[in-house]
Amino acid sequence: MSESRKKVTTRTLAKMKQEREPIAMITAYDYPTAMIAEQAGADLLLVGDSLGMVVLGYDSTIPVTLDDMIHHTKAVTRAAKHSMVIADIPFMLAHLSKDEVLRAGARLMQEARAYGVKLEGGSEIISNIQALTMAGIPVMGHLGLTPQSVNQLGGYLVQGKDVETAQRLLEEAKGLEEAGVFSLVLECVPEELAQMIAESIHIPVIGIGAGRYCDGQVLVIHDVLALGGDWHPSFVKVYGEIGKAMKQGVQTYVQEVKQRAFPEASHVSHLSSDLIEQLYGSKEGDK
Ligand code: KIV
Repeated sequence: MSESRKKVTTRTLAKMKQEREPIAMITAYDYPTAMIAEQAGADLLLVGDSLGMVVLGYDSTIPVTLDDMIHHTKAVTRAAKHSMVIADIPFMLAHLSKDEVLRAGARLMQEARAYGVKLEGGSEIISNIQALTMAGIPVMGHLGLTPQSVNQLGGYLVQGKDVETAQRLLEEAKGLEEAGVFSLVLECVPEELAQMIAESIHIPVIGIGAGRYCDGQVLVIHDVLALGGDWHPSFVKVYGEIGKAMKQGVQTYVQEVKQRAFPEASHVSHLSSDLIEQLYGSKEGDK
């Protein structure tokens, strides 16, 4: 990516929607994944609370804490010079008091240097979203399949498949726009509904498992690169088999250590013969 590349802002994204330029967002959780995504030209890096599942080994996003998010977002923002970094507000915080959600947003921006935050939910958290946007904190919404509510939803299932829930999602999206969110993630909804929502609101709609007609797409980097094993959701396209390559590399390293094939001559440094003599000499002298 050229150094002349400009920093992505909320205005950049609004313009991209207006000009129908697709927005590319991907998750990042540490310095190397952020560096790779930034250098690959991603417009947005999402420090998603998927962190809990793909990096920390939990079976859902629920155990992820604000401190986890801050720790990982700090590493991502150190690498991101141009891409916009958005950090997830973790489980439950969005539903607590206005003060608590404001404090969480402030910590993610001040300590971790995120550009803004993402919150899962609609009308039930609208007053907290308004408080954040009124305090100058850029907010990205998240509707459809909201993984923090996985236990209540009964699994990672496509949302908005009947008239009532589809209409509710459309209304929620309009409500979030009114509350001041600058963008909206729409997860696991039928393509036709995602298109209707993207065409009904003025802010960029970024889809994940939401079809081809959103204003942008987001995927989890571990899925895109097959970093965490062979399984991935059906809406994911795998662009690299990095997990396999890493395992193969480490297996070869382990074998070579065990066979004394590593280190080789080129990996070794030497003492000068003078120094060797002095060292042996002093050893002799010690006796
Ligand atoms: O946590 C996350 O990675 C997300 C994306 C799946 C949108 O919220």
